[in-house]
Amino acid sequence: MIDSQVASVSAEKQNGDGKSTEKTLTDSEILAQALTFILAGYETTSNTLSYTAHNLATHPDVQKKLQQEIDEAFPNKAPPTYDGVMQLEYMEMVISETLRLFPPAPRIDRVCKKDVQLNGVTIPKGTIVMVPAYVLHRDAEYWPEPEEFRPERFSKENRESWVPNTFLPFGMGPRNCIGMRFAQLTMKLALASFLQHLSIVPCKETPIPLEMDVKGPMHPKKPVILKFVPRVNADSKE
Ligand code: HEM
Repeated sequence: MIDSQVASVSAEKQNGDGKSTEKTLTDSEILAQALTFILAGYETTSNTLSYTAHNLATHPDVQKKLQQEIDEAFPNKAPPTYDGVMQLEYMEMVISETLRLFPPAPRIDRVCKKDVQLNGVTIPKGTIVMVPAYVLHRDAEYWPEPEEFRPERFSKENRESWVPNTFLPFGMGPRNCIGMRFAQLTMKLALASFLQHLSIVPCKETPIPLEMDVKGPMHPKKPVILKFVPRVNADSKE
């Protein structure tokens, strides 16, 4: 629960006798910001982790390669560190490819600030313009065989051939996602920590393929159910 008195005092500048001299944020603004952080910050990251886990379970070759990278970076199952996970190139590729296929924010909105002519189309001031990230991410013109999960699309060499602004999981410009780096760090630490010890495999309840409902906030049509097995057991079957 937010203590609104504490919050409102801390958001004001005060003079020597404790009186407010300049109001910077109202209580409802603080509350709105806190809610945004909880909704924008929690659901997005946890859902992306679920989709990544699903991709790894259905692509065991990718999972094995990622586990090898983690094992080399953190020998003898040493606890993952900030510096260590930020160096994991394949991890970055796996998460990016998951965000391409399943961007938690399937579209980005902007309000047009002035009348604009674009390719012969007039967009009047005040119009809400929607950028369909989900559709762009699955457009075969930019992403060949777009339904395929291929982390190699995000290798350093392949990044050069991207068409700008066709990959927008965190939005674009001055109002892009403020939590992007925090989200990436959280996801990398979580994935490295559990893939050191566990492998993810499909089970009979696993929806394959993973189909999304994109009418409102994007969510899977069926729950993402997977099985986690200790790596000692999984490795001995290989
Ligand atoms: C995988 C994780 C995440 C994804 C995919 C994601 C995606 C996005 C997208 C697409 C936007 C809109 C950007 C735009 O309009 O250009 C956004 C905005 C925002 N995100 Fe995230 N987000 C994630 C995690 C987080 C986290 C962890 C936080 C906070 C701790 C956060 C806080 C915010 C806030 C406050 C905004 C609004 C920024 C503004 O309006 O200036 N997000 N996010």
